[in-house]
Amino acid sequence: MSQIQIMPMTANDINDVVAIERGAFKNPWGTLAFINELACNGAYSFVLKTRQQQLIAYFCFRLILHELHVLKVAVTDEYRNKGIASHFFNRCLNAIPEAFDFAFLEVRPSNIAAIRLYEKIGFSVMGKRPRYYSDTDEDAIMMGKIFKGGSYER
Ligand SMILES: CC(C)(COP(=O)(O)OP(=O)(O)OC[C@H]1O[C@@H](n2cnc3c(N)ncnc32)[C@H](O)[C@@H]1OP(=O)(O)O)[C@@H](O)C(=O)NCCC(=O)NCCS
Repeated sequence: MSQIQIMPMTANDINDVVAIERGAFKNPWGTLAFINELACNGAYSFVLKTRQQQLIAYFCFRLILHELHVLKVAVTDEYRNKGIASHFFNRCLNAIPEAFDFAFLEVRPSNIAAIRLYEKIGFSVMGKRPRYYSDTDEDAIMMGKIFKGGSYER
């Protein structure tokens, strides 16, 4: 893990991010979506890179008032199931310079790896969003985590 660096996502990262995104999601964001995300108020996006500068994972968050929406978490295939996402998720939260008291996300019920990841880092199921995923008509499981004291746990 000490070989892996966390840094803010920049426009130069987008090609690599989109390549991972295409392999990771059924309805991937394209280049423009990430360009827009980087320009968005309250958006905090991070990438993980190896010492050789290979981009191996990314995380996108959006802060709306005191709530943090987890938009994207993805790790490239060859680095999955090695503890990368669980290890670096909280480090990304720590790198967000604004306070929040609640974080939430949507996940497909079929995405067991992601659900396990989120449970491991303290999220719990809060409800569902019916027919959230337009490609399959799947409901989304909504998961959330409260951060005590109106701020985030460090
Ligand atoms: C979901 C994802 C981000 C997890 O990243 P990761 O770095 O592999 O996760 P970790 O190795 O930190 O694993 C965290 C926990 O998730 C579980 N897990 C991870 N991969 C799993 C798998 N393939 N099957 C079952 N459980 C899995 C494990 O319980 C693990 O904890 P443990 O190792 O202590 O048992 C990764 O699989 C991914 O990029 N998937 C495609 C994109 C995606 O679905 N993102 C989430 C959208 S909501």
